[in-house]
Amino acid sequence: MASLNGKVAVITGAGSGIGRATALLMASRGACVTAADLDSNRAIAVAADVRAAGGRAIHHTVDVAREDEIRDLIAATVAAFGGVDILHNNAGEVRPEPYGRDATISVDAMDEAHWDHFMNVNLKGAMLGCKWAIPEMLKRGGGVIINTSSNASLAGQEATAAYGVSKGGLNTLTQYVATAYGPRGIRCNAVVPGLVLSPAAASVSAEALAPLVENILTPYIGVPEDVAYLVAFLASDEARYITGQLIVIDGGISAHVQWYTDMRRQRLAGG
Ligand SMILES: NC(=O)c1ccc[n+]([C@@H]2O[C@H](COP(=O)([O-])OP(=O)(O)OC[C@H]3O[C@@H](n4cnc5c(N)ncnc54)[C@H](O)[C@@H]3O)[C@@H](O)[C@H]2O)c1
Repeated sequence: MASLNGKVAVITGAGSGIGRATALLMASRGACVTAADLDSNRAIAVAADVRAAGGRAIHHTVDVAREDEIRDLIAATVAAFGGVDILHNNAGEVRPEPYGRDATISVDAMDEAHWDHFMNVNLKGAMLGCKWAIPEMLKRGGGVIINTSSNASLAGQEATAAYGVSKGGLNTLTQYVATAYGPRGIRCNAVVPGLVLSPAAASVSAEALAPLVENILTPYIGVPEDVAYLVAFLASDEARYITGQLIVIDGGISAHVQWYTDMRRQRLAGG
């Protein structure tokens, strides 16, 4: 088990799903955690859950798309715990409505505000997190940044361009930060989940999820804790030689040829 004893971790989007699981896991491995979320009640609840389990945590309300709020998030963490060692840029725009329209909007129908919103939360938010956390990490001789990307960034789809492209930019940001700050002790990686049964994903209809589920190779669908284990490992010293990487965690969705699923379906149908 990778220890995070004595480390200070800031986790955005910590109020739910992957961020919540990461906050609880990192705290159980010894990290002091700032649980940051747009939804204050969720952030408060997760910090309370960490403390109830014997860990150390504060909550912080933040809109990651706002630079003043990110600056305050990092400052509050330094005030509470003395510095920052780990940043998990996990907050993402995944709400079903009104931005769930992304699932049906193709580029020729793209609404400018819609596009800007995804870029602001999913891409600019992570850049701002890096901007304000990196100086604090450098003061401590290094640190670790983990960005939550998505397999929607790895290839095209008919719609969801705003989401997929924002995560593609996040992949590139990961490589730029790793390159610029690696020599000064900061590692930066992205976890690239496929379908993970967080509350956000669970709110999508079974019909809409079916094509994804059919392509998963494992006999089960991933849950937020599966991603949290990967994030906690990347945050630990056991991962000290891993930087600038996009690490896919998708139950094998991206590991097989396109026609595999059709062949399996036919086989199961006795065809
Ligand atoms: N669940 C999946 O299948 C899946 C797949 C690929 C990638 N992801 C990515 O994982 C990350 C977490 O998603 P999840 O599935 O756990 O979703 P979730 O809805 O369970 O949690 C997301 C959290 O982010 C918070 N948030 C949203 N906008 C914010 C903002 N502007 N500032 C601060 N907090 C904000 C929400 O309040 C929420 O608590 C996202 O970046 C998402 O794109 C999820």
